[in-house]
Amino acid sequence: MELILAKSAGFCFGVKRGVEMAEKFFTQNKTIYSLGHIIHNKYVIEKFEEKGMIVEDDIENIPYNSDVIIRAHGVPLDIYNKLKAKKINIIDTTCINVQKIHDLVLEYSNLGYTIVIIGKREHPEVVGIQGWVDGKSYIIESIDELDSIKGLKKVAVVSQTTFNKDKNQAICDKIQEICENVVIHNTICSATSIRQEEAKKIAKEVDAMVVIGDKKSSNSNRLYEISKEICKNSIFIEKNDELDLKFFEKFNKIGVTAGASTPRDIIDEVCNTIASL
Ligand code: F3S
Repeated sequence: MELILAKSAGFCFGVKRGVEMAEKFFTQNKTIYSLGHIIHNKYVIEKFEEKGMIVEDDIENIPYNSDVIIRAHGVPLDIYNKLKAKKINIIDTTCINVQKIHDLVLEYSNLGYTIVIIGKREHPEVVGIQGWVDGKSYIIESIDELDSIKGLKKVAVVSQTTFNKDKNQAICDKIQEICENVVIHNTICSATSIRQEEAKKIAKEVDAMVVIGDKKSSNSNRLYEISKEICKNSIFIEKNDELDLKFFEKFNKIGVTAGASTPRDIIDEVCNTIASL
């Protein structure tokens, strides 16, 4: 059996940076709060909790003068103000690509543009981006939702960094048809595009495809979606113990990829198990 592992599988630079910043802090033996999950991977979170991290969604429950990590996905502007009001030390791991989107939506909304965010409505990154808009904004999850913005003038479009590249393009093309004076910023992260392109390429070459990532991870879900469209024998797992080895018996060539928040040791475990067949 041949196994092809995507070169891009695993932590992107934004997640790697965030995890490293948090890890440095743990060496100081202090309690640190994380506003929501620092990354979408429950195994990483469990490890960090063992080291003293407390995950808290509500700022009200975080004590004054404590230390708080802001995750790579970023948070709305008012969260910074609330944290500062409680004299909290902020360890800001917001990815620079997400920070750029915050700057863009603030700038364009101040120039009088209506902001359209292409992305998943409930995703923390999208909630965070919308929280930097100073004016009117819309979130568009799919091309079927575009009626809500039909006829708008002066529109600036940004996208969730992990959104599906092809779907994003289709939505942007349509927005240009139905709105006037549209400025489109392609804010899909190159780390995401590279992973998606590589998943497409590998899925075309193999008999079965394994995507490793947390079920809550947006970019891992996209990789699974893309792989499944091309290779119907695609599976999505979080960890080694979900592998059904019988599934692989009839295949000769297996492809493996992993989301940007999947740690290397989990990827290695999965690959070793498949390779042992
Ligand atoms: Fe940043 Fe892109 Fe990763 S936006 S967190 S480098 S997927």
